[in-house]
Amino acid sequence: PRIAVLKGGPSTEREVSLVSGRECAAALRGEGFDVIEIDAQADLPARLTDCAPDVVFNALHGRWGEDGCVQGLLEWLGLPYTHSGVLASALAMDKQRSKQAYRDAGLPIVDSILAPREEAAARHVMAPPYVVKPNNEGSSVGIHIVQDAANAPPQMGEEMPDVVMVEAYAPGRELTTTVMGDRALTVTDILTDGWYDYDAKYKAGGSRHVVPADIPADVFDACLDYAVRAHRALGCRGLSRTDFRWDEARGLDGLVLLETNTQPGMTPTSLSPEQAAQCGMSFGALCRWIVEDASC
Ligand code: DAL
Ligand code: MG
Repeated sequence: PRIAVLKGGPSTEREVSLVSGRECAAALRGEGFDVIEIDAQADLPARLTDCAPDVVFNALHGRWGEDGCVQGLLEWLGLPYTHSGVLASALAMDKQRSKQAYRDAGLPIVDSILAPREEAAARHVMAPPYVVKPNNEGSSVGIHIVQDAANAPPQMGEEMPDVVMVEAYAPGRELTTTVMGDRALTVTDILTDGWYDYDAKYKAGGSRHVVPADIPADVFDACLDYAVRAHRALGCRGLSRTDFRWDEARGLDGLVLLETNTQPGMTPTSLSPEQAAQCGMSFGALCRWIVEDASC
């Protein structure tokens, strides 16, 4: 079968996606597939029509590729594609709306509000500590942390959207769980010297991953359970990865769900491939599973 791997694209996570796409394409070739790599730009519809793939492997991250837009195009073209569909992708990418779905599913989340960027830059719209982030970006792009009331609100310009999300700061350890279909893989504890920011995510040695996480069994099991429930609450398909924060001092009550990524990173430092490997699944086998799970 012929697979078109979509990578790159115009989002802020373009560079990450170029690496994810390259890695997945190489692995799929190793699995015996005929692979075409496409940098997803404005001519994407024509390129897809020309190459007529059997399956589209979506290795895009961020806006357009992860938020339902490309998924809508693929539905329109009638091409089976990997990962989540239009609605789940759009919902997961909208952090504030996805929280509503989690709340309805009884999952623990952190309070947040949407605020005009200028207002969030002019005054503390919530009692510190809090985090200001774009409502619809990944990879920690555009995150500002306000530790206490003595700090000024973040100065933000046009690089941030007109409306931003302001979220109560959830202290603690960074945990994550990958879901494949109906099954949660394991839990990774992500150790960084500071914030798990863009550099910590993608620079070799930027963070240390402990997998399976060395945490109490009740917290570990809750991560597995919440990740599957979050995947279902949003209506995700195929692979997803749900990120948590865990305040150790508060035990199980200190575990909160931050977000679900419908197009988890597939770079050499990424978490989902590492979790699959921990469960005995090679990177090639993971990519093959994703392809075989594709639908339209
Ligand atoms: N947004 C990045 C790619 C991730 O969640 O892995
Ligand atoms: Mg994300």
